[in-house]
Amino acid sequence: MVKKASESLVVMTELVLPNDTNNFGNLMGGRLMYWMDIAAALAAMKHCAAPVVTASVDNISFETPIKIGNVVHIEAKVTRAFNSSMEVHMNVWGEDAIQQYRYKSNEAYYTFVALDPNGKPRSINALEPETDDEKKLFEGALRRRQIRLILGGKMKPEDADELKALFVK
Ligand SMILES: CC(C)(COP(=O)(O)OP(=O)(O)OC[C@H]1O[C@@H](n2cnc3c(N)ncnc32)[C@H](O)[C@@H]1OP(=O)(O)O)[C@@H](O)C(=O)NCCC(=O)NCCS
Repeated sequence: MVKKASESLVVMTELVLPNDTNNFGNLMGGRLMYWMDIAAALAAMKHCAAPVVTASVDNISFETPIKIGNVVHIEAKVTRAFNSSMEVHMNVWGEDAIQQYRYKSNEAYYTFVALDPNGKPRSINALEPETDDEKKLFEGALRRRQIRLILGGKMKPEDADELKALFVK
């Protein structure tokens, strides 16, 4: 079965409360990554209709702190499905609901693996991108997958054909 990227969309909204912040009154990175993990896992589950586990989290740069009392918006969508694994892309914004402005906080890629009832990786639905943005993310997903598999010790750099093609003509 083929599912559209848009079918996996998950939008999560949270309010930053005192227990979520550091001494500077900013949202703690670990709390944000926890919310992102849940939003991304839900997007992955919507795509594959199966339980999933987080296989890896790509590097995250926190561009702008999100202040206490502000709102966090997380939009998560599957970019590409492989055999048992899926890449999920997220955009994160902060919002000052009183002054009424939004600001970009960060974006990230998480990878999830679908599991069968025995806890083993299982095959999943293919994914069809529709919009230009979805197509761009779909195309880049193969290269990002190769980078994270090399970093995770699961692929030899010499086998990463898509990556090599960027540098060797
Ligand atoms: C992720 C996990 C299911 C992979 O299982 P495995 O037995 O190593 O399986 P394989 O090597 O056959 O890989 C299965 C899939 O995972 C992907 N994968 C494995 N390690 C990965 C990594 N570091 N980054 C991205 N994808 C990874 C593989 O590419 C493969 O994808 P594909 O089927 O689409 O080709 C397993 O390592 C695991 O259960 N990890 C713990 C997950 C967890 O508990 N997460 C919560 C945080 S503690």
